[in-house]
Amino acid sequence: MLKDINNAENFRALGHELIDIIADYLKGVKGEEKVYPYLEPDKALDFWRKDFENDDLDVMSFFKKTINMSNKLHHPKYMGHQVSAPAPITALASMVTSIMNNGGAVYEMGMVNNPIEEIINEYLAQKIGFGKTGGGFLTSGGTLANLTALLAARANKTEVWENGTEKKLGIMVSEEAHYCVDRAARIMGLGSEGIIKIPVDVNFRMKTDLLEKYFENAKNAGIEVFAIVGSSCATSTGNYDDLVSIGAFAQKHKLWFHVDGAHGGAVVFSEKHRHLVKGIEKADSVIIDWHKMLLNPALITSVIFKNSDDAYGTFHQKAQYLWSNAQSKDWFNIGKRTFECTKIMMGVKIYSIIKAHGKSIFGEHVDYLYGVGHAFANLISSNGAFELATQPDSNIVCFRIKNATNEQNSAIRQKILEDGKFYIVQTNLNGEVFLRVSIMNPDTRIEDLEQLLEEIMKVNLNLFGQKD
Ligand SMILES: Cc1ncc(COP(=O)(O)O)c(C=O)c1O
Repeated sequence: MLKDINNAENFRALGHELIDIIADYLKGVKGEEKVYPYLEPDKALDFWRKDFENDDLDVMSFFKKTINMSNKLHHPKYMGHQVSAPAPITALASMVTSIMNNGGAVYEMGMVNNPIEEIINEYLAQKIGFGKTGGGFLTSGGTLANLTALLAARANKTEVWENGTEKKLGIMVSEEAHYCVDRAARIMGLGSEGIIKIPVDVNFRMKTDLLEKYFENAKNAGIEVFAIVGSSCATSTGNYDDLVSIGAFAQKHKLWFHVDGAHGGAVVFSEKHRHLVKGIEKADSVIIDWHKMLLNPALITSVIFKNSDDAYGTFHQKAQYLWSNAQSKDWFNIGKRTFECTKIMMGVKIYSIIKAHGKSIFGEHVDYLYGVGHAFANLISSNGAFELATQPDSNIVCFRIKNATNEQNSAIRQKILEDGKFYIVQTNLNGEVFLRVSIMNPDTRIEDLEQLLEEIMKVNLNLFGQKD
């Protein structure tokens, strides 16, 4: 009943019980046999339809089912998509942010969150190497962040936001870039002709020696290129584009230089791996996901500008009921710069990690995960039965049983998914299917990866018999 909805004592009792359940999950998950309790989609739908029809009031059993039936990112054998096993402290921060629910678009609705957000992004801008003018904001994920940065690029380089255009505009990006860049360009009306995809080399890095040629071809086709995007790193293989060359090209042609660092931009926190983004400080904008390599729950992404003022042109418009002066660059009314109006209190979650574990935790995390990724690559190279797709730069490793067919790889991955003892994914590179692992969990050890290779061989034997 509505009159009970804010009952503090009910909340206290449920909250204590739930914290125990979550703590037990964290304690027990390492020893659990399965990462992933696989259920076919239709069976899962059936299950929840029946549950939905049941009008019993039992939220705790719902929470338990949610935990038991989900993919367990804190399990050491979770090695699938690039999503953090969030630091548990962020679950506590999420309770605080959910209950306080300050939306942040305007200062009065973000008196804690908005200053924190400003500080975190200034800090990240320093790590990138942008100097005093750098800064930005948080937004809901890398996809939206890339769109926002490209909108800022277009606002900076063209008059489209105010006047529309009949011109053909374009951006340049590696063909291995995340699909959301292509999607952002289409949302912006560039069409497929306006997304100039640059081929990659054998290590899946943008072939920067082709940039001039592709730029010239675009120009000859009447396309006005206004931005170029570097991937740090590419999603499928985890390998980094050469930002120094891309930056020099952007500077020569006066293009906006954007870096999609959703996954691998996090190396700005690492002394050891920072060299992978050499040249990032020349970018006009960079995005970095906090919910990938930086221990936060989804979705939290920084959009950082070399000149933080550039962000104010992106969505330039009047909203009198929110702010009296639409022109002023007031950092504290964050909605002037973000796609979202209301948004969750993202900064509080990041800040909770800093307050609980210190700023050095981010670099430590990156170093550990990249270290295990590289050790896994060595393991594969020294095992005659397997081959790498490419020597990995990061914690993303693509590999397969030597010369396995696409059908074989897909069948192995499907069987591993259904068995649920490991969670890995697959990818398609130059038309060939590879198994793909992203080491995302600081509890994953090289022994877990040795066991993965054994499991793959076992599954292969069961499915296809002895191969040689
Ligand atoms: C390079 C890159 N960019 C963008 C994205 C999209 O980010 P999000 O899932 O936060 O929208 C991803 C996701 O994997 C990515 O790897």
